[in-house]
Amino acid sequence: MNTPVYDFLKEYEKSGTARLHMPGHKGRMMLGPESLDITEIRGADSLYEACGIIAESEENASTLFGSLATAYSTEGSTQCVKAMLCLAAGFNGQEGPLLLAARNAHKSFVYGAAFLDARVRWLYGEENMGLCGCRITPKALESALKEAYRAGEKPAGVYVTSPDYLGNMCDIKGLSEVAHRYGTLLLVDNAHGAYLHFLEKPVHPLDLGADICCDSAHKTLPVLTGGAYLHVSKGTAGRQGIQNREEAYRLAKQALAVFGSTSPSYLTLASLDLCNEYLENKAKDELKDTVKRLDALRESIKEAGYRILPTDPLKVTLDLRGLKTAVPAGKDLEYEFYDGEFMVFMFTGNNTERDFALLKNLLCSGERPQYGTFEHLPVPAAKAVTTIRKGILAQSERIPSKDSAGRICAAPTVSCPPAVPVVFPGEEVSADAVAVMQKYNIETISVIKDGRG
Ligand SMILES: Cc1ncc(COP(=O)(O)O)c(C=O)c1O
Repeated sequence: MNTPVYDFLKEYEKSGTARLHMPGHKGRMMLGPESLDITEIRGADSLYEACGIIAESEENASTLFGSLATAYSTEGSTQCVKAMLCLAAGFNGQEGPLLLAARNAHKSFVYGAAFLDARVRWLYGEENMGLCGCRITPKALESALKEAYRAGEKPAGVYVTSPDYLGNMCDIKGLSEVAHRYGTLLLVDNAHGAYLHFLEKPVHPLDLGADICCDSAHKTLPVLTGGAYLHVSKGTAGRQGIQNREEAYRLAKQALAVFGSTSPSYLTLASLDLCNEYLENKAKDELKDTVKRLDALRESIKEAGYRILPTDPLKVTLDLRGLKTAVPAGKDLEYEFYDGEFMVFMFTGNNTERDFALLKNLLCSGERPQYGTFEHLPVPAAKAVTTIRKGILAQSERIPSKDSAGRICAAPTVSCPPAVPVVFPGEEVSADAVAVMQKYNIETISVIKDGRG
């Protein structure tokens, strides 16, 4: 597999060309990578009008993932989620498209929905997994779709997050079959699962019937922060104005351009480009080995007495609900996420033997964990008073969250990570939501000024 973006940058670095263009560092080292950090000079292509080396590299990625079209982002899934909603809405001028969405949506979904003035019907999971988890079953989706159609509405898309921040995975195959039976699209926030296509048994959303999905390459692949993919699946051809590869690619670019900077990072583009080589030559073996080692590690952790959540293969998620003994805290390692109930560790093939050993040592050689009973945090039900868009655009004030019951949320109220809002813009804050905000140490909330929608 060739690496046209990286090769161009290396040639340019060697050429000694006078850099009479942006960026201002002119290739001189401060951090280290400046000599490869360029702008859209001649021959370097242009991310949102790509027809040269970037387009070639994206086509390589598309071939590797088996998509109809794949477009790069240098601004993460945050950009791709918003673009995905635009693609689903179909650029057809429809006002206020209806979206069915799992409630654990990342805040980028909120901004995308506000842009489209989408109406959102929330779907709730059957198990209580706090703020991050919301596993929607095909059966639950079917009844939500039936209800929408009974009311004479055709949703532009169904939106789920899988894997979520804890590593919970949805039955994407089952959900896509239901969505397609009802003539709508399945959109997957796969920010945490870029690697899933390269497992021995591929389980990437594209492999399982999803129509459009986004992957944060930087979360689980060797890519610089911000590197992400927006994929359109082969099965989507013929729907939503997406006729063929060219059309899917053009529309994906158009949607990404709405939300992207006109100065994308060539360093991130080059790392996405080089990642293609990694995916072709190394990813499968490296993942096979890492997954095997993680399976063994999880077994040891379970034997040591910890409860572990079933997750996507690269996460180790401790279920600490009801833990009576001390929460594990090692000084030489850093977890990805801890919210008082779950602790998440993320691995890839770039973790060393020492990393595995440190986690094993932390969890398997200390005091044996003891669990008692626990009370579930409530999952606050949405009570929309106005639309997400009106909520976000309204005049707002910041008040203590403990005093916010009954007020209407203006900006999304989140702690980051996981950046999953407790209350969404335009919704009335419930007593349950106040309890959850207290739990997540969210001390203030933005509400509509006079409390009316
Ligand atoms: C589920 C989920 N979706 C989307 C995002 C946004 O991804 P990015 O950081 O690549 O913009 C995140 C970030 O953590 C996430 O956890």
